[in-house]
Amino acid sequence: MTGAIVAFVSLMFILFFYTLSIFYQQGSSYLGLFTYIILPAFLILGLILIPIGMILKMQRMKRGVEPLEGKLWMIDFTDRRHRNATLVFAFGTVVLVFLTGIGSYEAFNYSESVKFCGITCHKVMEPEHTAYQNSEHANVKCVECHVGEGAGWYVRSKLSGLRQVWAVTTNSYPHPIQTPIANLRPARETCEKCHWPEKFYSAKMVSEKHYLADSANTEWDIDLRMKIAASHSALGNSAGIHWHINPNIKIEYIDPANDREALPWVRSINKLTGDTTLFQDTEAPITDSALRVAIPRTMDCMDCHTRPSHKYRSPSVFIDNGISSGDIPVTLPMIKKVAMDILTPAWENRQIAHDTIRKYVETFYKNTYPDILANHKPDIEKAITGMISGYSKNIFPEMKATWEAYPDHIGHIDAGGCFRCHNGKHSSSSGKVISRDCNLCHNIMTQGTPGQEEIAPFNGALEFKHPVDIDNAWKEMACAECHKKLY
Ligand code: HEC
Ligand code: HEC
Ligand code: HEC
Ligand code: HEC
Ligand code: HEC
Ligand code: HEC
Repeated sequence: MTGAIVAFVSLMFILFFYTLSIFYQQGSSYLGLFTYIILPAFLILGLILIPIGMILKMQRMKRGVEPLEGKLWMIDFTDRRHRNATLVFAFGTVVLVFLTGIGSYEAFNYSESVKFCGITCHKVMEPEHTAYQNSEHANVKCVECHVGEGAGWYVRSKLSGLRQVWAVTTNSYPHPIQTPIANLRPARETCEKCHWPEKFYSAKMVSEKHYLADSANTEWDIDLRMKIAASHSALGNSAGIHWHINPNIKIEYIDPANDREALPWVRSINKLTGDTTLFQDTEAPITDSALRVAIPRTMDCMDCHTRPSHKYRSPSVFIDNGISSGDIPVTLPMIKKVAMDILTPAWENRQIAHDTIRKYVETFYKNTYPDILANHKPDIEKAITGMISGYSKNIFPEMKATWEAYPDHIGHIDAGGCFRCHNGKHSSSSGKVISRDCNLCHNIMTQGTPGQEEIAPFNGALEFKHPVDIDNAWKEMACAECHKKLY
């Protein structure tokens, strides 16, 4: 009886919540958690209790503790009670099997939804979910990159999900969550579902707006033509940046520290000709002990596109974006410098960060530009809101998720990026070097302050001019060596 009641009540709740979710599309993710996972567990528990109760009762009857009711294990169709019970049982089973079918399908869909992955464990997944919504993949479901198709990966991901539930309940998960994710499905099986390498693109324009940390917040724009693949798209990815993922090319590297930052050993293999070239970092070579235990990793999309979806932009980038979109008024003197100074330290939590930002900006203008504070109060208010908004989308103090914890390796300024290999120091035994030539990967088309910018001749390229005078340091050092320390 208890089992039947538990099962019946759960079923009613499931139907009720299910109906609710049809009428209210915006149901919280917890509604799904109850409808498709917790309540069905109770339903099944109730159903299991029924036969257990029957067996116990039968044993008691056998032992003579309870009076015998009819013959054991016998259905008598001439008895109206037996007939009805059998009918109810048969009908109930059919309905339940049908509902279970729908239920499992819904449970599957629910456990694959962005709501389930991104919101259920709100505190833990907040950085990933927020950054994801500000990326070009905001309409791609989490599971399309993290799980992919096929039962094997589905089961594997749910099993590791159970481990994660345990880590969250016992509060034993790392802050920040560790990357690289060791058992992420190979990119070739996920990214290539939507991005088809045989039909890869030719050149792509990238336009960046920067504002310098001077009193006028001087604008400095750079337009680059990225040589994603060969110069003619008909040649596919036989040259250029996406040459690395040409199916006939295999690039392997060893990553002794397991963080994919320093890559002292790189091997390039041409599968068609069998040519193999080994490049070693001449300044920081791999140690013999590291080489002995290492298993080389084959380079794929994720080695460059480390942040296709969870982009934690550095303050320099999101402040520049805020200024160019108008969220932070460019007319406020020194605003870039002020923002850089206050947005880079690590605050304990978001509230402290917000309060400190507000106080710092107000104090700065009070002390340095009192007339601006007096006459342009709304602009200052707007700048504070813009900074806080940029901060909340890109820096997550509680989970320690920042641009430093999760570097974006697509370029070479804020993080090592391409220069992890292309630093001009990886050389083969025959003296071949992985090139650092500024025109290998892109051509600079325009650079400078609008109105006074340099423009490249048709089909030509400009020599890079560093926006502030640093002599020739940019030619010798890695950009990230300084740019990481600017924060
Ligand atoms: C376009 C593909 C893509 C989508 C969509 C995507 N991710 Fe990711 N995710 C990645 C990649 C790539 C990494 C980095 C893996 C690495 O560095 O090893 C990553 C890393 C993560 C990490 C590790 C911590 C971190 O920030 O790097 C978590 C957690 C995560 N994703 C959760 C999610 C959630 C939740 C969603 C949906 C809201 C989602 N992902 C959607 C590709 C994706
Ligand atoms: C379910 C399909 C899907 C999957 C899987 C997917 N993407 Fe995308 N991706 C898209 C779509 C759609 C866009 C275009 C978005 C737009 O331009 O609005 C896109 C855009 C991009 C862009 C271009 C962004 C830009 O700035 O123009 C890159 C780079 C990219 N994806 C890389 C990846 C990588 C790396 C993976 C694997 C981790 C991946 N994608 C997985 C659908 C997908
Ligand atoms: C060697 C590094 C590297 C690898 C490996 C790599 N990419 Fe890219 N990819 C780039 C760069 C650099 C760009 C252009 C820069 C930008 O968009 O900011 C780019 C651009 C793209 C774009 C945008 C094209 C456009 O026209 O907007 C897509 C989509 C893309 N890559 C998908 C992939 C996929 C899928 C893989 C794996 C099969 C992959 N990439 C492997 C470096 C790489
Ligand atoms: C793991 C090491 C590694 C990383 C990281 C890497 N590359 Fe490469 N790249 C190589 C190797 C090795 C070669 C081949 C060098 C040779 O044979 O001369 C190469 C060649 C190239 C070429 C010339 C291809 C051709 O023949 O036309 C381009 C362009 C290129 N890389 C762009 C990039 C960009 C852009 C990035 C960063 C987004 C990047 N690479 C990151 C290892 C790497
Ligand atoms: C191995 C390939 C590669 C080489 C070599 C390379 N770059 Fe880049 N560069 C990139 C990629 C990839 C980006 C990122 C484009 C993007 O933002 O999507 C980039 C971005 C840039 C930017 C734009 C940054 C911004 O945010 O405005 C500048 C400027 C630049 N590179 C200058 C240089 C200079 C100078 C050199 C020579 C010392 C150089 N690059 C060598 C691949 C390369
Ligand atoms: C010796 C240190 C140093 C090196 C090396 C260096 N930079 Fe810089 N960079 C700076 C300083 C300082 C600024 C000024 C910061 C400011 O005004 O906000 C700057 C500013 C910039 C800016 C303007 C960005 C902004 O929003 O303020 C760009 C773009 C840039 N550098 C590109 C590069 C590239 C590309 C390389 C490598 C080829 C490089 N830098 C190497 C020190 C360096």
